Amino acid sequence: MVRTMDYPEHRVLSGVQPSGTLHLGNYFGAIEQHLALQEQYPGECFYFIADYHALTSLKDAEALRANVQDVAVTYLALGLDPEKALLFRQSDVPEVTELTWLLSCVTGMGLLERGTSYKDKVARGLKSNVGLFTYPVLMAADILVYGSSFVPVGKDQVQHIEFAQDMATHFNTTYCPDAPVLRRPEWKLSKTPYVPGLDGQKMSKSYGNTIPIFETGKKLKKTVGRIETDSTPLGDPLDPETCRVFALLKLFCDDDALAELETWYRAGAREGEKFGYGHAKLLLGEKIASRFAEAQAKREHLLAHPEEVEVHLRAAAERARKIARGTVDACLAACGLR
Ligand code: ADP
Ligand code: TRP
Repeated sequence: MVRTMDYPEHRVLSGVQPSGTLHLGNYFGAIEQHLALQEQYPGECFYFIADYHALTSLKDAEALRANVQDVAVTYLALGLDPEKALLFRQSDVPEVTELTWLLSCVTGMGLLERGTSYKDKVARGLKSNVGLFTYPVLMAADILVYGSSFVPVGKDQVQHIEFAQDMATHFNTTYCPDAPVLRRPEWKLSKTPYVPGLDGQKMSKSYGNTIPIFETGKKLKKTVGRIETDSTPLGDPLDPETCRVFALLKLFCDDDALAELETWYRAGAREGEKFGYGHAKLLLGEKIASRFAEAQAKREHLLAHPEEVEVHLRAAAERARKIARGTVDACLAACGLR
């Protein structure tokens, strides 16, 4: 007997790859939105650390363990509230791999061959493997197994959500057209889809142009100092439209502060004193440090108490796993394996 699933009206889901230190691009492009959604949909936000996905490219067990811990600590420090949102390890819900197989069997090769992310990764020199190729099937399973209604992601992930929509439809039409088991998800783009890096390209760990969220002190000053600027002499007017420091400062300013900053730029002066890129960089460093100061303290506490992090990860996985089991059982029944 095929069961129709009883999913809530809204369920938010997103995954974060544990592939390195999280940076301002990740914060403004993804994490900030994830945290805001927990206020909008308390109890229905599912965020997981995509450690199975990381295996497609990361082969160093110690580094993987450290990265997973780093993502968990970062989210909790920045304000993920375990009462409102689930944060768990993907691999603590092995049901996703079970669903991955079921989806693989209704997914045409042609669909995956259209995948731009696989081609991009191989073009960038990543060694190809079957996991890298079938990555979108695992990602669809992540989404469909919880009956997610929408998935906040960056632009680069939209094709993967479209694939998940197709796979849900293929599965339902193949096995259970009258009582669809899998829900088609929608994507939701973040309001800051593009944070520039030190060199003006998209901030990304693959380009080595990032500002880590939790960088502080001299290191932060040095990193901010590396933002590329032109050679306008101190005191001459600066163009906020083209300045990379300004583009980052914008992320930390409300409308009034931004208008004031723009005046300083266009005048090359602040309160009667000359104003130049050096001052703008100093200001940016201060804004980063103060925005994340509270989270920084929480992070230090969590780093010293990994058992607290573990408690949250396990409790969340337990809840997620129950839901995943229900979906997979319904899918197994639909395919004739029960
Ligand atoms: P990276 O490019 O550093 O490898 P990921 O691809 O792991 O980052 O991105 C994780 C999340 O952060 C995604 O949702 C992505 O869209 C978002 N993100 C990453 N870099 C940026 C950026 N520079 N601007 C906006 N969002 C970003
Ligand atoms: N592929 C996503 C990324 O690289 C991470 C991810 C894995 C994901 N599974 C997901 C995102 C499911 C959203 C939904 O950023």
